[in-house]
Amino acid sequence: MSQRHRASWARVPVPDCSAGRKLTPMCGIVGYVGGQNALDVVIAGLKRLEYRGYDSAGVAVLADGSLAAAKKAGKLANLEKELADRPLPTGTTGIGHTRWATHGAPNDANAHPHLDNAGRVAVVHNGIIENFAELRSELTDRGHELLSETDTEVVSHLLAEAYSSAGDLAEAMRQVCRRLEGAFTLVAVDADAPDVVVGARRNSPLVVGVGDGENFLASDVAAFIAHTRDAIELGQDQVVELRREGVTVTGFDGELGDVREYHIDWDASAAEKAGYDYFMLKEIAEQPKAVADTLLGRIDANGRLVLDEVRIPAYVLREIDKIVIVACGTAFHAGMIAKYAIEHWTRVPCEIELASEFRYRDPILDPRTLVIAISQSGETMDTLMALRHAREQGSRVLAICNTNGSTIPRESDAVLYTHAGPEVAVASTKAFLTQLVACYLVALYLGQVRGTKWGDEIVSLVRELSDIAKQVEQVLGTMEPVRELARSLKDKNTVLFLGRHVGYPVALEGALKLKELAYMHAEGFAAGELKHGPIALIEDDLPVVVVVPSPRGRSVLHDKIVSNIQEIRARGARTIVIAEEGDEAVAPYADHLIRIPATPTLLQPLVATVPLQVFACELATARGNEVDQPRNLAKSVTVE
Ligand code: AGP
Repeated sequence: MSQRHRASWARVPVPDCSAGRKLTPMCGIVGYVGGQNALDVVIAGLKRLEYRGYDSAGVAVLADGSLAAAKKAGKLANLEKELADRPLPTGTTGIGHTRWATHGAPNDANAHPHLDNAGRVAVVHNGIIENFAELRSELTDRGHELLSETDTEVVSHLLAEAYSSAGDLAEAMRQVCRRLEGAFTLVAVDADAPDVVVGARRNSPLVVGVGDGENFLASDVAAFIAHTRDAIELGQDQVVELRREGVTVTGFDGELGDVREYHIDWDASAAEKAGYDYFMLKEIAEQPKAVADTLLGRIDANGRLVLDEVRIPAYVLREIDKIVIVACGTAFHAGMIAKYAIEHWTRVPCEIELASEFRYRDPILDPRTLVIAISQSGETMDTLMALRHAREQGSRVLAICNTNGSTIPRESDAVLYTHAGPEVAVASTKAFLTQLVACYLVALYLGQVRGTKWGDEIVSLVRELSDIAKQVEQVLGTMEPVRELARSLKDKNTVLFLGRHVGYPVALEGALKLKELAYMHAEGFAAGELKHGPIALIEDDLPVVVVVPSPRGRSVLHDKIVSNIQEIRARGARTIVIAEEGDEAVAPYADHLIRIPATPTLLQPLVATVPLQVFACELATARGNEVDQPRNLAKSVTVE
């Protein structure tokens, strides 16, 4: 790994976010400098990032002392057609962008990259320049002509001005960044600085790929993993200068910056579809391995937990008197299930909060509160802001995350990584199951450290957890009736989901999957709430999915939900019942019976969720929807 500068990694202080938070989009960014055809490298990288945003796409390359750019509204395929019709000159330095629009409609003019009026500087951007209006009028007063509605374009003009006086693109970028307010990732080239790509980040993802005689910049490692798995995390308010021979990182103040190198442990093929029609289908099928991989190396030969990576001292964990879980969407549903396990196994009060609501309710936090931030991407702004608030209040934060080197684990006191591998489909599946596994591990670990769970109990629970991967595999092998059912319901407008205990968050997750994939009304309820209002929704042939708890152990819950099934069926509902093998009590009231293996009560979500993922995916496919990139959504919601 040839670099001109690489300092040792130091902990990033809690950054001052008093500038407030605005929308920051989830665009895909790629930069390259090296010996290959830059356009080929950049386009291939953008293809791996298209899930982050796909309203428009664009590229810029440096060749023979000039800069050439192309950009088109719509998906990357539109840009590729444009490039086939009007090829750019060949160069070995370039940048590219796929956009998720915030400022300005998704049209050609607003697509990135944005150029200065002389066409010498090109900039791509993810984030929001909050003071762009003021900068725009300044530039206009100085005679610049701005051609788009975007905030990004002001940066290309400012950079051109700064470069003409500084004569150095990295210094020009530092000068410009010192004037910007908001959250941003910027990557730029200048025709007068061949073989140089410069990037900058504040509260928005950017990683460096370090090759041999070539270097990469991207919003996500998936863009360059085909070329190198050696990466560098960038810290807050940093500028990175990429040249063939190496990488230089400084702060916005020009001082050499702290960075951390790491090795990406999954390969390019893992990020491909591996023969499936959709990434989502592949990722559903990968769940047994993802569950097993997340357990790997965390249980010793005696069945005890070994979570050394959770770098919070045991004495601190023993003093914890409250746990607060913060997350969004599917990760929030994992947190709801974690609450049951944590309180049952550790007897520590556990709250679960929507990250977007958390800090606005003035939560009661102190050094004896452990905050657990769950996030697949590690870039969800709501969750990031929640953990920052918790740390400012003196609480310790443990991240549960699937993306090495992302912002949330970097700004937490400790992290327990899930090992689901890259999750590309916007609808989260394997990340959810591995979040559950990680939450169970944390709960059992707390029980082990605090002595509320004894060795033999932990060993038996860990053994049952270890068996789950096989049971998920077993469920996957019985999904054809679920697919047929989904296809038969493709013209329905509404599906309801009911559950009790840990089945209630599973019902919510099933509803979310159907919303985001089939674009239909889907709602989850605690089954006990039916008579408090929702039962009024029941009408003839209305599909209602019911997640039935095991009849063993907590049979009172089971009996109550069987009554609920009878109540809705008596009112015409079409009952779709998910129940464990051998549970015959539900059979008379199930229009469709989906069997799952018997598991301990708290672990049932690991098998009960899978049919709901398959159901939603198949129904969306039957409707002709785009499964991996549903409308209006993006994979990493760096939005607040
Ligand atoms: C789930 O299918 C959605 N993609 C969404 O709810 C997601 O779980 C949520 O945005 C949280 O994302 P994170 O796990 O990356 O923080």
